[in-house]
Amino acid sequence: MTAQIINGKELVRSIREEIKQEVQEMAHEGTQPGLAVVLVGEDPASSVYVRNKAKACEEVGIYSEVHKLPAETTELELLTLIGQLNKDEKIHGILVQLPLPKHIDEDIVIDSISVHKDVDCFHPVNVGNLVIGKPGMLPCTPSGVIEILHRMEVPLAGKHAVVIGRSNIVGKPMALLLLQEHATVTICHSRTKDLAEITKQADVLVAAVGRAKMIKREHVKEGAVVIDVGMNRDEHGKLCGDVDLDDVLETAGMITPVPGCVGPMTITMLLKNTVAAAKQAGAYGSHS
Ligand code: GUN
Repeated sequence: MTAQIINGKELVRSIREEIKQEVQEMAHEGTQPGLAVVLVGEDPASSVYVRNKAKACEEVGIYSEVHKLPAETTELELLTLIGQLNKDEKIHGILVQLPLPKHIDEDIVIDSISVHKDVDCFHPVNVGNLVIGKPGMLPCTPSGVIEILHRMEVPLAGKHAVVIGRSNIVGKPMALLLLQEHATVTICHSRTKDLAEITKQADVLVAAVGRAKMIKREHVKEGAVVIDVGMNRDEHGKLCGDVDLDDVLETAGMITPVPGCVGPMTITMLLKNTVAAAKQAGAYGSHS
């Protein structure tokens, strides 16, 4: 049987419609959620991501500002800008696009973002809350994956979920969120022996490795749900995921296409976090 290719565009469209309604209701009460996106340097992929984030904000009525800083920006200059954004009442979410140039310490920058405005959920306090299951900000890519699984009515409790990749942005928080959904979770990575032996046991397989088309049919159990977080270029320069979609199509039960599913869903979760941060700020007064 051929796998169902998940219609990410349709999922994203309906969630963004819900967010737009929520933003309109907030406008009646005199609040507009605001997001600041900070980009240091001119990495072409990052520039595209930042543009897409600003465009998505506009689409749902969230105020956004993009701060484009030259590659030579010093750490102190960046920290000064973040300090101003932390105090700015128009701004409820701050996203510093990663990676940063080598001369800037990412950890120091992330630590300087107000915990209440950390819509990426990269700040150690928010990561800690995620680990112990306290409600709060959730990281965009992994929470987008959970949203896809929920909306596709994929059962998770008691299922074996295998995550390939152990990055702080995707792999680790992904495993934690799947655990919260009561899945049995395995994390695989570059040192894992017999990768296919393990991934073949997965009811839900999440690939977040960053290597074009490395997941083939021998890695996938018959009928498994395959979520592709990869964003790579193939040998012809075409965008592709970590999964070789054509190769696994007759084996998987459901699969997310790249591009057009996890990527736009990640941005949608960023919008959701910004709205939630604005609501929190409204409820408890402004945070700095
Ligand atoms: N670079 C790649 N993914 C992300 C992300 O989710 N957030 C930020 N800030 N930078 C990224």
